[in-house]
Amino acid sequence: MKREMLRVVVTGMLLVGLIGFCAEASPAQSAGETLFKTKCAACHGPDGKGEVPMGKKLGARNLSSTEVQGQSDAQLADVVTKGKNKMPAYAGKLTKEQIPDLVAYIRELGKKH
Ligand code: HEC
Repeated sequence: MKREMLRVVVTGMLLVGLIGFCAEASPAQSAGETLFKTKCAACHGPDGKGEVPMGKKLGARNLSSTEVQGQSDAQLADVVTKGKNKMPAYAGKLTKEQIPDLVAYIRELGKKH
């Protein structure tokens, strides 16, 4: 009887682990996309076009536009790190890995355009 219970518990745990593993192995969003949506979308909009009240008020450019996409990865990373006019600086708030993730996501936004 006890053995039976144990087996049920172990099987249950394995199943939960497996589901968790699958969810982790195929994330619906990239790291950059998740970050962008939580930290940047308030001003840049979820699609990066800046068509949100804060973006319009502060003058955020459409991130998928040629003016923005024409800049190098280093230049975009620089703006995110050091800020620019009303764009806040993220140095110290994001890790060195998160900034390239965000730049990669900005490139994705450019492709969708
Ligand atoms: C408080 C509002 C605000 C937030 C939050 C914000 N931005 Fe910005 N961002 C701006 C504004 C305004 C500009 C335009 C700056 C300028 O050129 O005057 C800008 C410019 C930029 C640019 C340069 C594009 C250009 O115009 O050449 C990049 C890249 C950028 N933001 C990325 C990000 C990323 C990535 C995040 C999240 C980590 C983020 N921003 C969060 C307001 C914001």
